[in-house]
Amino acid sequence: MIYLDNAATSGRKPEEVYLACDHALRECSGNPGRSGHAASLAAGQIVEEARRMCAAFFHAEKASEISFTNNTTTALNTAILGVVRPGQHIITSSLEHNSVSRPLEYLRSLGSDVTILPASVDTGIDPEDVRRAIRPDTALVVLTHISNVTGTVNDIRAAGMICREKGIPFLVDAAQSAGARPIDVREDYIDLLAFPGHKGLLGPQGTGGLYIREGITVNPLTRGGTGSFSELPEQPERLPDRFESGTLNVPGLAGLAAGIRFLRAAGCEEIEARESSLRERLYAGLSEIPGVKIYAPGPGRPAGCVLSFTIRGIDPSEISAILDSSFDIAVRAGLHCAPYAHRMLGTIGSGGTVRVSPNHFSTPEEIDSFLDAVRQIAEAARR
Ligand code: ALA
Repeated sequence: MIYLDNAATSGRKPEEVYLACDHALRECSGNPGRSGHAASLAAGQIVEEARRMCAAFFHAEKASEISFTNNTTTALNTAILGVVRPGQHIITSSLEHNSVSRPLEYLRSLGSDVTILPASVDTGIDPEDVRRAIRPDTALVVLTHISNVTGTVNDIRAAGMICREKGIPFLVDAAQSAGARPIDVREDYIDLLAFPGHKGLLGPQGTGGLYIREGITVNPLTRGGTGSFSELPEQPERLPDRFESGTLNVPGLAGLAAGIRFLRAAGCEEIEARESSLRERLYAGLSEIPGVKIYAPGPGRPAGCVLSFTIRGIDPSEISAILDSSFDIAVRAGLHCAPYAHRMLGTIGSGGTVRVSPNHFSTPEEIDSFLDAVRQIAEAARR
């Protein structure tokens, strides 16, 4: 199979990730932070090592600023619903995934006002629009770093600087950028960063986290089951315990730490350069096929390693089904959980787009095979 659906989850993991999960399951099978026996302590060491690695990767000041979650969606919900009080104002963009837009719609139903900043496919939002949208009752600015539909990059540093200047908490959705682009929570003025473990960081599914800058007040989404402070009737204040209710995914976190170790050894800049060259090859090839329309930043623009396209005369879901059944190529079709983005692209009523997302394990030959398949499908649609 040619796997080009890495925006959904990284299809291939480094060998070290499989080994780390296996080792954790077999040898460190205690419950971390619960008991004093060797198996529990070994599991706890895995969790704390993963925490230190995530903190260092995103340049957090302290490991305790990282709380583990099951995925980015839980991290985003924790941040949004834990910071905003119903009735307060929130600023976001038209590129967001529904892990952001649905909690915001929920808050809207409770009386909050949501400003959705327009974005261009080429350059994302204008950070100055953030400044213009801020009001006395603005409680949060939440932006995706990279669109999961088009690969558009938002200038989070410029937006973050404005939020910090105005004293508004700034939440970044790094679902598509963690591991693929440098993120420095301090230099990018990020207060809250929601990230997946299973995409760019190459860990297993069921892993993710939320960076919470020390001093930012967030109410937990879930309570109980921290394993610590059992004498307290309330959820403890201490981080990360406050946001880690229930038994953690220890084998998953072992794999996540191994994924980050792999990225560090391979070199993040090299990985970014490789992905950028594959994405350019993809863009250039698709733009030469008659009937194909691309939804992504144009050549030379900053972009994530994900783009969308349609072919005139054929439904996106049919294209992806043909790619799968006739060519053994995995992509994703539809709205990709991002209705705001499809409203902006004008594709919401026509089945969305086909999304292609290689990663650094992909090869130029795989991109060429994919382009050849699209050429054949587009040709058949023209007949
Ligand atoms: N949010 C993931 C995607 O875009 C699952 O496919």
